[in-house]
Amino acid sequence: MDAARISHKGLSTLEQEVMLDQLPVRGTLPAWLTGTLVRNGPAQFEVGSQAYTHWFDGLGMLHKFTFRDGKVSYANKFLKSKAYQKARETGRISYTEFATDPCRTLFERVFTLFTPKFSDNAVVNITRIADRFVALTEVPIALEFDVETLETIGVFDYEDTIGGHTTTAHPHYDPVWRSAINFVTQFSPDRRYNVYRIPNGSAQRRLIASIPVSEPAYMHSFAITERYIILTECPFVADVDVRNVILGKPFISNLKWKPERGTRFTVIRKEDGAVRTFETEAFATFHHVNAFEHDGEIVIDLAAYPDASVYTYDFYLEQLRSTTQTIALPHLRRYRLCLHDGRVAAEALAAEPLELPCIDYGRYNGQPYQLVYGVNLHRARPQSFYNQLVKVAVQTGDTLRWYEEDCFPGEPVFVRAPTAAAEDDGVILSVVLDGKTNTSFLLVLDAATFTELARAEITHHIPFGFHGQFFGDMV
Ligand code: CO
Repeated sequence: MDAARISHKGLSTLEQEVMLDQLPVRGTLPAWLTGTLVRNGPAQFEVGSQAYTHWFDGLGMLHKFTFRDGKVSYANKFLKSKAYQKARETGRISYTEFATDPCRTLFERVFTLFTPKFSDNAVVNITRIADRFVALTEVPIALEFDVETLETIGVFDYEDTIGGHTTTAHPHYDPVWRSAINFVTQFSPDRRYNVYRIPNGSAQRRLIASIPVSEPAYMHSFAITERYIILTECPFVADVDVRNVILGKPFISNLKWKPERGTRFTVIRKEDGAVRTFETEAFATFHHVNAFEHDGEIVIDLAAYPDASVYTYDFYLEQLRSTTQTIALPHLRRYRLCLHDGRVAAEALAAEPLELPCIDYGRYNGQPYQLVYGVNLHRARPQSFYNQLVKVAVQTGDTLRWYEEDCFPGEPVFVRAPTAAAEDDGVILSVVLDGKTNTSFLLVLDAATFTELARAEITHHIPFGFHGQFFGDMV
C-alpha cells in the first residue's frame, strides 16, 4: 500500500456525530487523569459538488474526550455556524466568498469581513471566555458551545466596542492579570493593532494599546512574557486598498510577501502600553513556542519557515493530498531582543523540525523552560502529513520520538500530573489517525519517557485538526 496516500483519509469528510460513553482502552490510563480534551478542526471538505481547497477551510467539528476513573468517553458534533447551516440548507458553499470564488483561501475568507457575509466557521482553536466555552478562528467571532452536549449556542457577544477585522485563535493567559490577552487588526477607518485583555469572568475587552500600522501583517499567534506582549510581524503584509476588497477583488492579491521589509517584533509593555520595535531578517511563522525575559533580553522561541510558501501554497489540500510531496516543516529558532541596544540575535535551537508546538503552558508560558512537544516527519519515512510526535529539549537538542507505521498524530497536548516536580511529569495526549484501519485513537504517552501508556480507540476517523485544550476542572 502506498503509505503517502493513506493520510488522505485525514483530509476526508466525517459525517457521523456520535456520543460514546466508554471507549475501549488498550493499556492503562493514569488514575489521576481527570478532565476533558476539547478539539476542533475541519470535518467536511465538500458541499454538494463544490470542494474546499484549503486545510483551514473545511466546515468545523468539535470533538471531546472526557477522562474519569481510568475510563474515557468521546463525542463529536459539527459546529453549527452560519456557514455550516447555509451549506446544509442550500447544498452549496453558500457564503459569498466561497460561492463566487471556490479557490479562496484563509486570507480571502478572513478579509471578506469587508463584505456583508463573512465566514464564522470557527475551526482553529478552543478557549473559555467569561467561563463560557468558545471555538475560535481568525475573524473576531467566537462561537459559544455547550461543552456537555457540544451543541452550538451562538456567537459570543463581547460587551465592548473594540473594533477589528482579524484576530488570532491563539489568545494567551496572563496569570498575574488573571486575564486572557489577544489583539484584533483593524483595517478601517484606519489601520491598527488593538491589543486587549479580558479579565476572568468578564466579557469586556480592555484596550492595552492601539498601535497604528501602515501595512498590517498576517499573524497567526504571538507571545507574552511577564512584562511584555510581542507581536511578530513577518513580512506577509496587507497593502490593502479597502475599496478593492469591497468591490470583491480577492484579498490574496493584496497580501504580499515583502522580504525586504524584514520581520518586525512589536513589543508592548503591559504596564503602560508603551511600544518598541525590533527588526531582523525575513522569515515566516505560524506558531510561537514560548517567550521570556532573561538578563536584559526578551527571548522568543518560534517555529520558523523560510518564506511565504507556507501561507500561499503548502497547506492547500491539493498539496497535502499529494503522494509525491511531504508536508513543509519549520525549524525551532530563538530570537533575543536586547532591551539596551535594540539589537536582535538569532540562533537555531535544535536540528529537529517541529510544528504544532506545545509546552507545559500553565507552568512555563512566559518563563524560562526546557521542553517542547510537537509533530514532524519520520526522517527515513517522510509522508505527505505529520507522522511522528517529538519531544525536544530546546537547548541541548535532545529528542525523543513516537512513531508507528502509517499513523498520523495531531497536535500533542501536555497534561501535568497533579504532583509534578519535573517539567515533563505528566502525559501527552494526541489524536492519531491509524492509516492501516482508517480509524482514529487517542494516544496517551508518558511525557517523560515518550512511551505509550494507553490508547482509546474510536470507530471512525477524525480528520486532521489544528488545536485543542485540556480542561482539568471539568468533570
Ligand atoms: Co495555530
